[in-house]
Amino acid sequence: MRHARTNALRKRVEGHARTSSMRERVRGHAPSVLHVLALALGFFGLPAWSDPTPAAAQGFHAVDSPMPRGEYLAHLGDCVACHSKHGGVPFAGGFPMPTPFGTLYSPNITPDRATGIGAWTSTEFYQMLHTGRSRDGTLLYPAMPFPAYTQVTREDSDALFEYLMSLKPVNQPNRQNELRFPYNNRSLMFGWRVLYFKEGTFVPVKGRSAQFNRGAYLVQGLGHCASCHSPINALGGSADDSAFAGGLIPLQNWYAPSLTSNQESGLGSWSVTDIAALLKGGASMRGAVYGPMAEVTHNSLQYLTSDDATAMSVYLKSLLELKPVPARAPLDTRPSADMLASGRTLYEARCASCHRSDGQGMPPAYPPLAGNPSIDMELSVNPLRMVLNGGYPPQTAENPRPYGMPPFAQVLSDQEVAAVVTYIRMSWGNHGSPVTPRDANAMRMAPLLD
Ligand code: HEC
Ligand code: HEC
Ligand code: HEC
Repeated sequence: MRHARTNALRKRVEGHARTSSMRERVRGHAPSVLHVLALALGFFGLPAWSDPTPAAAQGFHAVDSPMPRGEYLAHLGDCVACHSKHGGVPFAGGFPMPTPFGTLYSPNITPDRATGIGAWTSTEFYQMLHTGRSRDGTLLYPAMPFPAYTQVTREDSDALFEYLMSLKPVNQPNRQNELRFPYNNRSLMFGWRVLYFKEGTFVPVKGRSAQFNRGAYLVQGLGHCASCHSPINALGGSADDSAFAGGLIPLQNWYAPSLTSNQESGLGSWSVTDIAALLKGGASMRGAVYGPMAEVTHNSLQYLTSDDATAMSVYLKSLLELKPVPARAPLDTRPSADMLASGRTLYEARCASCHRSDGQGMPPAYPPLAGNPSIDMELSVNPLRMVLNGGYPPQTAENPRPYGMPPFAQVLSDQEVAAVVTYIRMSWGNHGSPVTPRDANAMRMAPLLD
């Protein structure tokens, strides 16, 4: 299964340009969920990218043309990612989110009165976003990112509701969750909420520009960026002071780097223009998005207006100045000379045609590996996954035909993968630590969810 898929991928990559069928490939990286109590560790599989051009997106071509406000907000919140199953009607729910505790199915949020939210009022909808309680008072699991959506203003909530109500009603009964005892008991959410949930509408920071506050509102609210970019603790909550501090996404085996650490995100040295290009276009002169972040860009961020992309970037850069990072500890492990030499040989043979011998790449088509924080951040999960599985940046209005990277899982042994990843983490001034064949093997075993 996996082999067939990988071969098919390789074939498609041969032309180096992504075809529309490549969308298939990206499906399966998912949005987040993280903050789940008992579901803790439950990054629920995530959204299939059922229909890359849901009805909602049709008719939207010009990069900066403002779509109706509610529709724009639905994109920013990435509602479609979780509320659509693969091959199903957008927003009709039924998307399975596997967790270590069982499977959760997203509900139908089309305006069908019997099976969707057609009987809801705009006040009930706002209450749900704001408090994490459904219309009948049921405590929602934080797989629905209400801990972020609580920040959304009543006005935006009403626009979002109006948009959802304008969709075609789909009669599709919600599928029962299949959670094991005791996780199927929603009263557990009381404790989780006391610990991790703070209700509250966004309040602009005094003394900061309107642009900063707009960015903060989008990142903390509808963007729900912290749901992936925060470490989750044992209970599946993320403490406030660690918001945006980086997180390993359970079950997905991808790492969402800290957005507050310059060593991990490296955003400190990026211009606002580069960050905005990365968020909206998926590729920039400094690096490309991949894995679950490619999905976020594809479904959500590519629809940002330039003003909003810039506002978010201004806010993201400010996170760095709010939190200075301690210097990185010196390396205590050195790889053997043999390993580095074999890594170099492999690199020249397999990688240099795109990323160049000097690691400078050919951006924005082929990202640089030198000075790219994605490569040398402390956790080596992401570069290992990229080398094993390959990938494509998302197809976006600004980058309509992204170039791809072939998978190497079948051509390189664990030893070779470890050698080449160690080589790129330690060359050209990169400061990463070595990886072992065992690390490579662990990632080889990681499931490709789709
Ligand atoms: C579904 C989980 C998920 C969500 C939600 C998410 N991210 Fe990410 N993000 C990731 C992962 C995984 C990576 C690492 C892969 C990469 O660099 O593209 C990443 C990478 C990034 C990077 C690149 C850092 C670098 O140094 O290359 C930026 C910037 C970023 N995310 C910003 C955001 C913003 C802003 C939001 C909210 C609008 C957001 N992310 C929401 C998972 C997520
Ligand atoms: C990361 C996945 C995810 C995203 C993104 C997401 N949802 Fe949800 N949503 C869920 C899940 C899962 C539930 C059900 C939670 C439960 O059963 O406790 C849910 C519940 C809901 C409900 C309650 C339905 C009911 O019948 O009680 C509504 C309404 C809703 N979401 C609307 C939205 C809107 C609007 C957006 C975008 C702004 C959105 N969701 C984004 C996963 C998501
Ligand atoms: C055919 C051209 C090509 C070859 C060959 C190639 N890559 Fe890539 N590489 C890319 C492209 C395109 C991306 C961006 C993919 C994405 O965003 O999903 C990428 C991304 C990456 C990344 C993630 C960095 C980032 O910012 O996106 C790493 C790490 C990486 N490549 C390492 C390697 C290594 C190591 C090899 C050799 C074993 C290799 N690549 C071979 C084209 C290539």
